[in-house]
Amino acid sequence: QNASLSDEERDEYSDGTVKLRNSNIELMDQDILYHLALGSESHDLIEMFGDVKFVCMGGTPKRMENFAHFIMNEIGYKLPAGTQLQDISAYSYRYSMYKVGPVLAVSHGMGTPSVSILMHEMIKLMYHSRCEDPVFIRIGTCGGIGIDGGTVVITEEAYDAQLRPSHEFTILGKTVHRPAKLDKKLARELKALSGDEDPYDTIIGKTLCTNDFYEGQGRLDGAFCEFSEQDKMDYLNTLSEHGIVNIEMESTIFAALTHHAGIKAAVICVALLNRLNGDQVNSPKEVMHEWQQRPQELVSRYIKKVLAQK
Ligand code: URA
Repeated sequence: QNASLSDEERDEYSDGTVKLRNSNIELMDQDILYHLALGSESHDLIEMFGDVKFVCMGGTPKRMENFAHFIMNEIGYKLPAGTQLQDISAYSYRYSMYKVGPVLAVSHGMGTPSVSILMHEMIKLMYHSRCEDPVFIRIGTCGGIGIDGGTVVITEEAYDAQLRPSHEFTILGKTVHRPAKLDKKLARELKALSGDEDPYDTIIGKTLCTNDFYEGQGRLDGAFCEFSEQDKMDYLNTLSEHGIVNIEMESTIFAALTHHAGIKAAVICVALLNRLNGDQVNSPKEVMHEWQQRPQELVSRYIKKVLAQK
């Protein structure tokens, strides 16, 4: 299956199954997925989610609700007569989740702690539901470095703010690093689905993941700023020299936990601005709305292609 991959791409986690790597879960009478408002005994998770093949995540509940409606139309999925799309996790008051046939659309909030909590429960959800080879895709927004607003970036590898290709965890007070690896073959497959006729660029590049939008991303316009414009530009140029093309706040945890679970994953973000030109996100709302459709369009092409092969 992996014959065409290089040694670097083929690794110990690449057999596609969901690994829980926690023997405690099997011994529990029930597992409550608290932040999803689901549970292994209170819900028939195999019946509800066993057919899931694509888990698409993005920051806001509204974006994921829009994505759910969009993908329903794209794949021609019909809800049972008299029913409407429902937020399955509405009573968690934390995350939103919509199911459209084999596609789950889930909001993950902002920043790595929010994504981390969701990922633990989504990975357990895949395990309890006995999903086979689900693919996880983050659909997000980012700041570009040397690329125009509206450019779509498929992450090749995620880096933390110290330019390490891993996510740093603190577990029992100790520092643990897990590699922030994404599926390179999936990234290439997605890139191949970007069309010459698209009126914007889609590129593959390295992504920086920070713990903050303002000082953490070298912005001059936060509530505090204790560095000069020159310091900022030097930092952005250093990132660029390392091949970093965009900055966001979720990719390392998303990559590290999917990789640890043996789940194939990708991150696709649209740039809201070119950080070499400024810090404020000030494009008109309608323009940004159209830009945010672009990663969704690419994901839709991918899902349709995979479904057509089945
Ligand atoms: N998201 C980020 O994290 N940074 C940006 O500059 C834009 C979107």
